[in-house]
Amino acid sequence: MNTAIQIENLCFAYGEKTALTAINMDIPAHQVTALIGPSGCGKSTLLRCINRINDRIKGAKITGGSLKIHGIDVMREDIDLLELRRLVGMVFQKYNPFAMSIFENVAYSSRIAGIKDKKALAEIVEKSLRDAALWDDVKDRLKQSAFGLSGGQQQRLCIARAIANQPEILLMDEPCAALDPLATLKIEELIHQLKSRYTIVIVTHNMAQASRCSDKTAFMYLGKLVEFDDTRKIFENPGESKTEAYITGSFG
Ligand SMILES: Nc1ncnc2c1ncn2[C@@H]1O[C@H](COP(=O)(O)OP(=O)(O)O)[C@@H](O)[C@H]1O
Ligand SMILES: [Mg+2]
Repeated sequence: MNTAIQIENLCFAYGEKTALTAINMDIPAHQVTALIGPSGCGKSTLLRCINRINDRIKGAKITGGSLKIHGIDVMREDIDLLELRRLVGMVFQKYNPFAMSIFENVAYSSRIAGIKDKKALAEIVEKSLRDAALWDDVKDRLKQSAFGLSGGQQQRLCIARAIANQPEILLMDEPCAALDPLATLKIEELIHQLKSRYTIVIVTHNMAQASRCSDKTAFMYLGKLVEFDDTRKIFENPGESKTEAYITGSFG
């Protein structure tokens, strides 16, 4: 197994409040890893450690352990955060296109990176939209506002924007929570298509979704990692009674 993200004894706190305790996980490259567990157990916190966007929260800090991407410790002081966030794309629960055209949403990061050539930009935009299974829906309205798209389309636009940067890792924090079942299914199909090229880590509340679209599942509870294994194992024959209770809906 090729490990993309290596997490060792990771501890994290918001001020005095401990949010993660000694998390150990080897997240495989080019697979989908699902993080599940009841609300407040630390899923988003763990996800946000991977691209260090927790840094923006005052008083939030890693209190121990390490998190490495392809062997490089991302907690180092001298890490280039812009480069880290290019390497690690992220999609949120509430889809959040920028208040600009469909085209400009996807071209945004390339423009920031200094690409000015119109043809090059158009190619990046088309490729990213195709990869996000959105090209056919939007190719005739690229100049229109992103806000005119349906919710599911806006989320796929956010995925196109994230992959336009050519990241290696894609983080998704409950990406379907605000979508209807059909739009959810489209995102799941897309995740399936993307995983050959990206390492995907997805937080989901939807057990059916975790079992459908992930290869590995991590069950978290009260800031600890209870169990991390092949998704099939977690759902068919979990090793911990707590995991079984959660996936069968006894609590959460
Ligand atoms: N910005 C914050 N400041 C203080 N505590 C926070 C903050 N964000 C999350 N927490 C706390 O950290 C714990 C883990 O939260 P979170 O990672 O959001 O859980 P999940 O995504 O599993 O619902 C919770 O107890 C939550 O209240
Ligand atoms: Mg969360």
